[in-house]
Amino acid sequence: MASPDTSRNDLFDVLVIGSGAAGLTTALRLCDKARVCVLSKGELTAASTYYAQGGVAAVLDETDSLTAHVDDTLVAGAGLCKREAVDFTVKNGPAAIRWLIDQGVAFTTEEQPDGTWVYHLTREGGHSARRIIHAADATGLVISSTLIDRLREHPEVDVREHQIAVDLIVQNIDGKRRVAGAYVLDKHSGRITPILARFVVLATGGASKAYLYTTNPDIATGDGIAMAWRAGCRVANMEFNQFHPTCLYHPGAKNFLITEAMRGEGGLLKLPGGERFMPRFDARAELAPRDIVARAIDHEMKRLGLDCVYLDISHKPKDFIINHFPTIYAKCLSLGLDISRDPIPVVPAAHYTCGGVVTDLKGHTDLDGLYAIGETSCTGLHGANRMASNSLLECFVFGRAASEDIIAQLGSVPAPQPVQPWDESQVTDSDEDVVISHNWDEIRRFMWDYVGIVRTDKRLQRALNRVQMLRQEIQDYYSNYKVTPDLIELRNLAIVAELIIRCAQLRKESRGLHYTLDYPQTAAEAVDSVLVPEIKRP
Ligand code: FAD
Ligand code: SIN
Repeated sequence: MASPDTSRNDLFDVLVIGSGAAGLTTALRLCDKARVCVLSKGELTAASTYYAQGGVAAVLDETDSLTAHVDDTLVAGAGLCKREAVDFTVKNGPAAIRWLIDQGVAFTTEEQPDGTWVYHLTREGGHSARRIIHAADATGLVISSTLIDRLREHPEVDVREHQIAVDLIVQNIDGKRRVAGAYVLDKHSGRITPILARFVVLATGGASKAYLYTTNPDIATGDGIAMAWRAGCRVANMEFNQFHPTCLYHPGAKNFLITEAMRGEGGLLKLPGGERFMPRFDARAELAPRDIVARAIDHEMKRLGLDCVYLDISHKPKDFIINHFPTIYAKCLSLGLDISRDPIPVVPAAHYTCGGVVTDLKGHTDLDGLYAIGETSCTGLHGANRMASNSLLECFVFGRAASEDIIAQLGSVPAPQPVQPWDESQVTDSDEDVVISHNWDEIRRFMWDYVGIVRTDKRLQRALNRVQMLRQEIQDYYSNYKVTPDLIELRNLAIVAELIIRCAQLRKESRGLHYTLDYPQTAAEAVDSVLVPEIKRP
């Protein structure tokens, strides 16, 4: 065998894959101590983080308490949260917010009657107190832009946009499997090269693009979950895909969320005739946890044959609406909808992946040197249903924990071995790209129809049969044709779709976000759905 062409091998201490809240936090906390490379599939802002509206949950008011935040999270998680993950996240929440403020994040403030200014805290479903700090209704944009500005002040960090990690590189070091970097496709040149690193952080976000209707941007194809699975890591609780109750229903808008904070500030869910329906489903009405609200909407839409229901905030003063929800107000107005006068048509849409790559409290996965942070991970914080605004918090808290853990080990981990360049000698350019677009559409459609808000054994089995057939077809295609961004994402999407279905089939009960007509009761004991891959030795 020819010796590897090491001139092609970039080497870093840490390769951070992803530039959302998890990736940016980890990179910023590492950059003074380690040589870091950050990858993003698109621009740095191409991430769910950028689109976050509501805010970040943390205990910031003396009338609130850590115990209350913990208890609310446990209740929303329907008995499946890991207590130590919840305690850890909630306890570290206030410090995470202080760090964001130190980075320059301009959260919304309000003047008190005595003339002092305090941060405005809003309320969302499941929270027993006002504890969501936010930047109007564009929290993600403000956080992303600020953290990206801070990262740009560190030219020593190698930031690479429009780069797609294809697969992790795994080596055998002293008889143990260890991550050693990733093969990465440059979207402009179409070339795939290895990037070697002592540590790799998967901060690749969720997998809600597995569903036909989603609030997520196009990057959310579960790449990190699929890469970790292929590299031998356990994946858990994938059946708990959260459907956000209120995505704008309008032919001119794709994936546009109407924040839960609108219900927190008094917005009411109504049927076309103006009748409220949430009080019939839960005493907390519009502020019940998301799984309950989304299921209630789905129920009413199916019962009455509706295309959508309505979220009405028009009873509030116009100034209040414009001040609290400037982005939503402007977006709806651009579509001819004045939300200070008219109710907003909304439908549920896939929003958040509660499951993911199994980690501990430092973000360690099953593979030495590999961390998973943020929506890609399954830390145990969210259980069977994530409480609103706990996900950004998780990114900041675990990003810090992982970076501190990496820094503590930096001196003791040897550099990876050089690797062979990506081998393209056996493949040709595809002449059938329609296969890719067709399979994309097919997966997203059957996931929506068969693995959505209400499930049955029969529907799950139908979906499994289809996805396994498609996975075989995609694998054949992958082996014979040059790899493209769409093909990488399709291959990953098919894997995460199968993981979602298999986790759903393991759960013979209804709990949190997983509701099945065949097992409508909740079992006495709460157990994770854990999938274990076969490990291929490097
Ligand atoms: P992301 O922010 O999604 O970032 C993933 C990154 O990985 C991106 O940079 C992407 O380009 C990159 N990437 C992915 N695959 C690859 C690959 N193969 N190679 C290279 N790069 C790759 N949560 C809250 O707590 N509060 C909110 O108010 C809130 N509002 C939301 C509103 C919307 C519309 C959406 C969609 C989500 C919202 N959420 C909210 C959820 C929250 O935004 C996400 O869970 C969180 O931002 C995830 O952060 P992340 O860093 O894990 O992933
Ligand atoms: C929202 O603003 O409704 C989204 C909040 C979240 O997903 O946590």
